Amino acid sequence: MTGKPSIAIVGAGSLATFLAVALNDAGFPITEIIARDSPRSRRRARALAAKVGAQMVTASSAALDATLLWLCVPDREIRRAAWVLSDHLVARALLRQKVIARFALHSSGALSSRELDPLRKAGAAVASVHPLMTFVAGAHPSEHPSMTGVPFAIEGDDAAMRVARRIVRELGGESFLLPAARKAAYHAWATMTSPLLLAFLVTLEEAARAAGLTRQDARRKSLPIIRQTLANYSRLGPARSFSGPLVRGDAETVAKHLAVLTKHPGAREVYVALARAAMRGLPVKNQDELKQLLHD
Ligand SMILES: NC(=O)c1ccc[n+]([C@@H]2O[C@H](COP(=O)([O-])OP(=O)(O)OC[C@H]3O[C@@H](n4cnc5c(N)ncnc54)[C@H](OP(=O)(O)O)[C@@H]3O)[C@@H](O)[C@H]2O)c1
Repeated sequence: MTGKPSIAIVGAGSLATFLAVALNDAGFPITEIIARDSPRSRRRARALAAKVGAQMVTASSAALDATLLWLCVPDREIRRAAWVLSDHLVARALLRQKVIARFALHSSGALSSRELDPLRKAGAAVASVHPLMTFVAGAHPSEHPSMTGVPFAIEGDDAAMRVARRIVRELGGESFLLPAARKAAYHAWATMTSPLLLAFLVTLEEAARAAGLTRQDARRKSLPIIRQTLANYSRLGPARSFSGPLVRGDAETVAKHLAVLTKHPGAREVYVALARAAMRGLPVKNQDELKQLLHD
């Protein structure tokens, strides 16, 4: 394939909203935004379609004449959406007596391209293409994630992987091959990089309440040290960024933390789990005494 393939996007949620605009900016014609047949879905899809010069359609009204279909629906909906689309695709192809939608992609980090089997049976080459990035509604345009250097995990049929790699390159991302058998483990890791990092930040707010701070105040006061820690981690690596009572081996201080956090069992549980993780992977001094404290 020489020119940029035309693309139809299924869904108008967090990923679709970002991806459609990024693809459009990179010169890929977006033909259709395919919504479910409910007023809310149509409304969101209409707004997205207007941004990228596409038509808002449902599966039954879609022309499905794009070269590539990109399913941006929740993991649990991918197979169902693939079935619905494949039925329509076969009907359209029969009418026009040619195969349309040569490629179909989904973006689940955990599920393999096999979820798209119904579309494969309808003649499309399929792949999964997962960006290791977080996309959320409501982010300020100046904070929209840049695709530059974003890793995209890819697996599937050769032809679909070829086209996916090209699209990722045009977006500024970096694709890498991830065997289907590794996807669940890969996605467990990916979930820790952002969603569970946020769960940790929320636990921090809970711990700050023990010190009498409000959640908002805790967030504001902790951001400078959090930012500096990430900058150190990026430049110096984990071991040289590690400060605090564990690297000094101050067991008495840790004992005080554990005592005061008994009234906040959720925060205490996370503290203990992370202190144990630090003993496994970071230069903790006074390990014997700390081990006793943390395993009691
Ligand atoms: N968000 C991220 O940061 C991120 C990052 C990497 C990968 N992903 C992947 O991207 C995919 C989408 O995630 P998301 O976060 O964008 O989810 P989301 O915000 O919940 O959006 C899902 C969209 O799919 C639509 N939808 C659901 N079922 C559908 C169906 N059967 N047919 C057509 N449209 C349907 C929903 O519309 P209605 O409910 O209004 O009908 C909604 O517009 C997932 O596979 C996820 O793993 C997401």
